Amino acid sequence: MKYEICNINDFDEQQYAEMYRAANEERRARADRFRHEDDRRRCLCADMLARRMLADASGKAPEEIAFTIGYKGKPSANVPLYFNVSHSGLYVLCAVSDKPIGVDIEQIKPFRAGMVARYFTKDEAAYIWGGTTPATETVIDPEICTRFYRTWTAKESYVKMTGTGISTDLSAVAFDPAAHTVCAIPLLTPDAPDGYVASIIESDLC
Ligand SMILES: CC(C)(COP(=O)(O)OP(=O)(O)OC[C@H]1O[C@@H](n2cnc3c(N)ncnc32)[C@H](O)[C@@H]1OP(=O)(O)O)[C@@H](O)C(=O)NCCC(=O)NCCS
Repeated sequence: MKYEICNINDFDEQQYAEMYRAANEERRARADRFRHEDDRRRCLCADMLARRMLADASGKAPEEIAFTIGYKGKPSANVPLYFNVSHSGLYVLCAVSDKPIGVDIEQIKPFRAGMVARYFTKDEAAYIWGGTTPATETVIDPEICTRFYRTWTAKESYVKMTGTGISTDLSAVAFDPAAHTVCAIPLLTPDAPDGYVASIIESDLC
């Protein structure tokens, strides 16, 4: 498995023009629809990174890599490899593997306390709150926010590995912070830039 995290501001306009030219029609149309420059950059960087990493790993040229959008929107490519991308804030994460893989990167920011009960199991909630009780609806404590996004990205990377997306029963996707697993599968937590957390999970059991 290989992964890379890139900063969307590390590329200039000429490089974005090259990414646009290399992308397929669907990706170009998506890039064109974004009003905000950062959205457009995340969209083009994700395509470029996946294309380059799949080309490097397969021996094909980047322009030979073709993407297809499959079940629940999960993309695949015309090479015998798995990949997944995620973007948040200034960063794009992509990983390539010979096994089904899911990745998630999130910028650590304040969150609404109600999301914990909505999305997470009792054990996950206990880990996130760390023995404290939320005093306000918007949680800003950096350690609690980090644990929230650690849990979020762990579960999201699992859901992205299986490809089941938004329809998944998240109570059945259990993150165990002590064992560092999701549904008993080992979780990888790559070094993320300051203010971000990232998770990667891969398994040939799915
Ligand atoms: C697409 C989805 C899987 C992730 O979306 P997200 O967190 O907003 O976005 P990310 O940046 O992490 O990932 C986006 C990438 O995932 C990929 N993707 C899209 N659908 C996917 C799917 N079903 N499975 C895996 N990957 C998918 C695409 O490559 C996409 O990149 P692109 O927009 O550049 O094409 C989301 O729609 C979803 O269903 N999430 C799970 C729902 C949930 O409640 N999660 C809570 C976690 S606790």
